[in-house]
Amino acid sequence: MPEKEPIGVIGVGWVGLCTAACFAELGHEVVARDILPDKVESLARGEVPIHEPGLSELVRKNAERLHFTTSMDEVLERTRLLFCCVDTPPTYSGDADLSRVERVIEELAGSTDHAIVMKSTVPVGTGRSIRRRHEGLGYVSNPEFLKEGTAVKDFMHPDRVVIGAEPGAEAFAERVAALYEPLGAPVVRTDVASAEMIKLASNAFLATKISFINEIANVSEELGADVTEVARGMGLDDRIGDKFLRAGIGFGGSCFPKDVSALKQLAGNSGYHFQLLTAVIEVNELQKRRTVGKLKKHLGSLVGREIALLGIAFKPDTDDVREATSLVLAARLQGEGANVRVYDPVAAGNDSGMLGGARDCATALDALDGAHGAVLVTEWPEFAELDWAGEVRERMAESAVVVDGRNFLDREALRDAGFDYEGIGR
Ligand code: UGA
Repeated sequence: MPEKEPIGVIGVGWVGLCTAACFAELGHEVVARDILPDKVESLARGEVPIHEPGLSELVRKNAERLHFTTSMDEVLERTRLLFCCVDTPPTYSGDADLSRVERVIEELAGSTDHAIVMKSTVPVGTGRSIRRRHEGLGYVSNPEFLKEGTAVKDFMHPDRVVIGAEPGAEAFAERVAALYEPLGAPVVRTDVASAEMIKLASNAFLATKISFINEIANVSEELGADVTEVARGMGLDDRIGDKFLRAGIGFGGSCFPKDVSALKQLAGNSGYHFQLLTAVIEVNELQKRRTVGKLKKHLGSLVGREIALLGIAFKPDTDDVREATSLVLAARLQGEGANVRVYDPVAAGNDSGMLGGARDCATALDALDGAHGAVLVTEWPEFAELDWAGEVRERMAESAVVVDGRNFLDREALRDAGFDYEGIGR
């Protein structure tokens, strides 16, 4: 075996590309395969189709070690550890769609030299079921814990690396563990089902933390407490921790909503009613919609009102709009008769028509011009840097309301400037 083991990556979406680029950065030859020829060609030219800080730089810097191809044979010939990074979107029933994973497994079946290293998020039990059907196939579960916006940093400095393997696949698991050795992170070696559960449970727990603090925020509004103070006081308790206690207008993205539903569904399929997760999902949906009430509190009817949404992406530093609160808000506000304008520094145009008749604006000021209300949906730094007391105040309608959906703006400054300010839980 060469000193640095060559790596195969199957599926060059966000997870696959981050994995490929980071392993190349660690000195591995990487053969990354996608079925879309256009994507492969543009990646080979060094064009990165997603907004992820630091990723384009890594792809360009390691171009010599990164090979993009449409050919599975090429991957099989040049590598033995194949990281499966295809997506597993939810189906109408709420179960994960594993058809892409299954196709990859079919292409590998029969080989005893290769191992599939599962990075795609799959239901607990998937690995065992695959191994039952494909005896002798090397199978290692290695879930990813990357966050959009900080994926490169998360890969290079992981809190932990989880590696699940069954008897018979220990040697492959050992080789996977060796890949991560330079990162110096704790490695959790476990069985496949537990590794799969660690991934889903981690996302579900973080989502639970968010829905919990959002409910504390809602009660704080009624009782006169300030949720940011409450979170500060809670977060200093080591057992609680200060992360993921930021109240806001709900979590979105391609992972939390999908994984929480998947775990709930998985539990249900096994005969267990996971009540807590049902509440986590419901609280999140209501949280997105509460903004409409805050606008109405100040503006009365929203019919014919001009409302600006600042931010479309589900969080800053990404152009991803999947399950973003902006989509729900745009639909609800238009349902109430409002005219909606949107602005996002990078995600503009990524909504594939999901914002309905909302008007895309070229700048934040364009979106705010003449608006009766503004909702800060995504905490992009440029929104805090706007000249709220000067230019924005002049441009927006008189007695305009600002709903700060992430408690991100300077509340006192906005109030002093004459805005009706509404935060979350304060
Ligand atoms: C999440 C997990 O954090 C990653 O560990 C995991 O690897 C990833 O899903 C995945 O399964 O692939 P991500 O979806 O990129 O990562 O985004 P997060 O930073 O976790 O944020 C998710 C949502 O929660 C965002 O809408 C964010 O605004 C919201 N959030 C986060 C809050 O409302 N409050 C908080 O305190 C933190």
